[in-house]
Formats: sequence, structure tokens, C-alpha cells
Amino acid sequence: MDDASLAKTTKPLLKWSDAYSVGDPRLDWDHRGLMDVINSLTLDVQGAHLDQEGLRARILALIESQEDHDAREEAILASLNFPGFSEHRQNHVSLESRLKAFVAAPLERSEREDLLDFLKDWFIQHVLVQDMHYKTHILESRERG
Ligand SMILES: [Fe+2]
Ligand SMILES: [Fe+2]
Repeated sequence: MDDASLAKTTKPLLKWSDAYSVGDPRLDWDHRGLMDVINSLTLDVQGAHLDQEGLRARILALIESQEDHDAREEAILASLNFPGFSEHRQNHVSLESRLKAFVAAPLERSEREDLLDFLKDWFIQHVLVQDMHYKTHILESRERG
């Protein structure tokens, strides 16, 4: 790939900020980890460092981290009787199946770009929109002790 086409496909990386904090250090830690995984996958895909098997292994590892995080998040939300629990859990399940679709068949170059766009959009949507729905609930529960 020449420099011009590399520049054209380079996507900005995610950058952590306090605005991403959901009020629980364990979940913030998970989110930061997921962000790092997405960024490093982005760099490796753009640098063409991964063959199909390597890419598949990385996506599977990401799915495992995400499922691990979702389980931890759901356990915390259930313990705090978060009223939007069912809907939140449904969002996790639907993401898990969308991610699994990316390992169902080898990914062409354009599909790799789609994957990167999907992951970035998902991260922003998951943390800044969906997870923010429980932030107030977590903070208030903690205040009540
Ligand atoms: Fe979530
Ligand atoms: Fe989350």
C-alpha cells in the first residue's frame, strides 16, 4: 500500500476522556481495555499486519473480552436493581451476535474497514449512550450506601 492510500484509510483512534466514566471504576477499567483493544486492532488492520487467521483470532479475543465485560456489568446492574436492566442486557446480546457475524467468513478488505467503523461506533454508542443510562443509578446507589 502506498502512502496516499494509507492516509486515505487511516481512521482516528479512540481517546479516553472523563466523559466516558460511568461511575464505577471496575467498569471504567473494562471500557478502557476494550478501547485499547479496538485501537490496536485498528492500527494492525490499517498497517495490513494481519492475515485472515490472525484477524479472526483478534476478533474472537475481542468478543471474549466484551462478553466478560458485559457479564460483569450485568452483575453490577442486577445487584443495584437497575430498572433498565432487561433492555440493557438485550443490547449486549444483540452486539454479541453482530460481532460474531464478522468471524463467520473471511473478511475482504472493504469488510475490514466496515469492522473498524462498526467497532468504533459501537464503543461510542455503548459507553457514551447506553451505559450512561445507568450512571446516575450507580452514583445514587453509592451515595445511599
Ligand atoms: Fe453496557
Ligand atoms: Fe459497558
